[in-house]
Amino acid sequence: MRKKMVAASALALAAGAVVVGAPLAARQAKTAAQPWMNTRMSAEQRADLLLRAMTLEEKAGQVSQQFMFGAFEQFAPIVKGSKVGSLLFVTDPAVINRLQRVAVEETRLKVPLIFGYDVIHGFRTIFPVPIANAASWDPAGVERAQAVAAAEARAVGIHWAFAPMVDIARDPRWGRIVEGAGEDPFLGSAMARAQVKGFQGPAIGAPGHIVSGPKHFAGYAAAEGGRDYDSVYISEPQLYNVILPPFAAAVQAGAGNVMSAYMDLNDVPAVGNKWLLTDVLRDQMGFDGWVVSDANGTKNQVIQHFARDEADAAVRSIDAGNDMEMSFGPAASAETLAASVRAGKLKEAVLDRAVRRILIGKFRMGLFENPYVDEAQAKKTLADPAHRAEAQAAAERSFVLLKNEGGALPLVAGAHKRVAVIGAMANSKRDMLGPWAFQYDLPETVTVFEGVRDRLGSAATVETAPGVQLKRDVPSMFEAITIPGAAKPEPRWDAARAASEFDRAVALARRSDLIILTLGEAEDMSGEGASRSDLKLPGDQLRLFEAMLATGKPVRVVTMSGRPLELGAVIERAPAILHAWYGGTRGGTAIARTLFGDVNPGGKLPVTWPRSVGQVPIYYAHNTTHAPKDQGKRYWDIPSTPQFPFGYGLSYTTFEIGAPVLDTATMGAGGRVVVSVPVANRGTRAGDEVVQLYVHQRSGRASRPVRELKGFERVSLRAGEQRTARFELDERSLQYWSSAAKGWVIDPGTFDLYVGASSSAEAYATFSVAGLPRPGVSWSGRKK
Ligand code: BGC
Repeated sequence: MRKKMVAASALALAAGAVVVGAPLAARQAKTAAQPWMNTRMSAEQRADLLLRAMTLEEKAGQVSQQFMFGAFEQFAPIVKGSKVGSLLFVTDPAVINRLQRVAVEETRLKVPLIFGYDVIHGFRTIFPVPIANAASWDPAGVERAQAVAAAEARAVGIHWAFAPMVDIARDPRWGRIVEGAGEDPFLGSAMARAQVKGFQGPAIGAPGHIVSGPKHFAGYAAAEGGRDYDSVYISEPQLYNVILPPFAAAVQAGAGNVMSAYMDLNDVPAVGNKWLLTDVLRDQMGFDGWVVSDANGTKNQVIQHFARDEADAAVRSIDAGNDMEMSFGPAASAETLAASVRAGKLKEAVLDRAVRRILIGKFRMGLFENPYVDEAQAKKTLADPAHRAEAQAAAERSFVLLKNEGGALPLVAGAHKRVAVIGAMANSKRDMLGPWAFQYDLPETVTVFEGVRDRLGSAATVETAPGVQLKRDVPSMFEAITIPGAAKPEPRWDAARAASEFDRAVALARRSDLIILTLGEAEDMSGEGASRSDLKLPGDQLRLFEAMLATGKPVRVVTMSGRPLELGAVIERAPAILHAWYGGTRGGTAIARTLFGDVNPGGKLPVTWPRSVGQVPIYYAHNTTHAPKDQGKRYWDIPSTPQFPFGYGLSYTTFEIGAPVLDTATMGAGGRVVVSVPVANRGTRAGDEVVQLYVHQRSGRASRPVRELKGFERVSLRAGEQRTARFELDERSLQYWSSAAKGWVIDPGTFDLYVGASSSAEAYATFSVAGLPRPGVSWSGRKK
């Protein structure tokens, strides 16, 4: 420690600082501009200078991040003692400023804190949950959404989002499927890029933007049995071809941070996995930001029987390339890394590497120049009505019309004078927001009932009743934590009330002319720690549905959930089903506008919707083996096909997608194929169609999926309008990672190409790839 202080002062002297006696550090901080404050230098040069001034303890603190579940008074000494480089879960700009003041005025080197938070799908203005955003198939809209989220978060002093979650999820039992973009690497990559750009803006440090940290690197969604946090076993081809592409896309889009995952990947915890964090992420993908562990991920290596103890865990993760440790309570890194260096268990250069990456991030964010936040401006930014309008538009673009028999939707406003909006979530504000939102404005959140009531105004009497309640058998993980601003769950009814509420809903339905019925899962039934063994409608909802049908009144169903559900009789018997996910702050307004035809739904499923949980995992991009044409016989009790395919979604109008026209029949070396697809709106309303392009490789070095998404475009067409969608395929569209070649390859041969409005697309062409073999391309586009 002493030796380091001397080194620090020598450096300061060399840089021309005035250094006058003890207490040296404090004087130095007050009297002289530190050499690393020279903004003419690059972030890297500044980080190097600062790093050389740091003690081992300061370095160990810098790589440590703590949850701030507690008061300022509790955390100020931790900041003052340079025990943390970052805090998370602080959202009050006044508290952020006070803590920052301690960091930049009361510590020796005045290194500012970087404040992180789970800005997942909004901050104050809550947007649709991520899987819903993906269902929009509209990357530009998703980018705008995350730009709003960034602006609001930055306004309160947050610098960094633990988002997007880019885990490809093919098992809807896993509760966190709600947080991602679904099952497909191509759609997932588009959403990953869009979100990184939305959060970060043109460059890290852009005003009103924050650093984006895609997560969870890598493989987390493949938890065995869909059980959150469980081990993951993924083959190398699966990793490279399915799991990693969205991470590579996020890195290429410039993500400043990556979060490592909790679980073992092929028996090595991701946080301590050098191959993953260094060989793949750094060397192959070219990531140059800093890696943070998931919460307690570093210490968890002891629970995983990988690390001997917490000191060993801190060494193992930083050595593997995990730069910062996120921790409940004191981080193992802050507590032990300095001693580990002194004991020769960790090279100081490895610690330096991590500190440097974090400091570069802080310099790039401009935190040394602008550590504080304008508290008055924060309020204005959070209140911006344009943000609510953007959230409503996002919700309207996310809904998926699953069924619409005989034009049951849209409804005509005023055609029914008494409207009943029934269901456990019909008038629940909290459920509209989804599981990963905390700083929402609950009174401002619009429920389905409120949306319908406001939409109909004096045209009808609108009433609501829950009928049933939805409660988990075990409390959710967030019920155990006090998060400032978060609403408490509603108390559970007793059995007596359950019966009377059910009857009250039936009575309301009987005296109404139209029933809008919400069905699905309460928000806390998906998300972290919210896996299910079953996908059936929870609670008494099917009985409620039957009771509604029994009234003989018209019933329209709005489903809300963060995962596909086994809807059973609802699929057969409801004339119309609109899947509305969790739509966010303006969800209810958006649902009402869609039900009454002000908006034509154009969302498409970003995930295959199974008939039964027993089909899981089920995804469209599967390989075929024996008897590929006879899919019906894979189970003797149910069809092998899903309830709804990936990419599926109806519209109030009718689209026609014509045969694809290719500009060439052969893709040669360095070449490309341009595909033109005519799309026409043959109905009487304006609407959006998502034109999708899939490719299948007939033969090669590996068996390839029956089809893979390689292009999509959401097209808006007026009634009768026609357009041509254009797609370009190049060698990167066709490359894949081959275990035989141990690298990226493109196989020559014949490719099938399908275009249409879902993964069942039938319009068809073929092309061939010739003039190969040649080397494939790597993640970063560099020739490997
Ligand atoms: C989750 C992360 C999240 C972190 C911080 C963890 O439990 O897995 O996704 O960012 O907590 O809240």
